[in-house]
Amino acid sequence: MMKLKWTKQLSVGNAVIDSEHKNLISIANNVRRAIKARDSSILSQELEHLEDWLYVHFANEEKIAQAVKFDFSQHKLAQQCWLKELWFLRNELIGKNGLWSDDAIEYFSLFLSDWLIDGHIISLDMPMKPALQAHGYNFLPGVIGDATNAPVTARNPVSVASGMVGSGCSYSISHSIGK
Ligand SMILES: [Fe+2]
Repeated sequence: MMKLKWTKQLSVGNAVIDSEHKNLISIANNVRRAIKARDSSILSQELEHLEDWLYVHFANEEKIAQAVKFDFSQHKLAQQCWLKELWFLRNELIGKNGLWSDDAIEYFSLFLSDWLIDGHIISLDMPMKPALQAHGYNFLPGVIGDATNAPVTARNPVSVASGMVGSGCSYSISHSIGK
């Protein structure tokens, strides 16, 4: 399992967004390490950490996108789908308490890197680059949040498995873990 790495090719032309992406990649590596070690309690902690920072990042990215007049509606939809899928997989893994098949480990790790690097940074965020670059690399509109004001109460493990089909999510839960 290769460690995920931020490279210059992943820069979207804004310092805040780039540094948050680096942070998310490093947390994703911790998540992958916990999965590989079959450590359910560390995995749970790391996923909460990832989720807190995702909320912060999504909120900051939205503020920046609005400030550079980039249409963020597709982002919002994709983010909802990702969080649902992430929670679904999380519940399956935590439920099995470390008794994860090699396939399940492989699938979840791949899901994380597919989503974060290819899905989020490259497909969703990269199209913002021209608009971001027009404002300069250090553009920073208003107050930007950090994990201390992450809306932890927004965590919603309940509605995860429902609402995927026909909700416009590009992901489908076709690979059930550990079956
Ligand atoms: Fe992003």
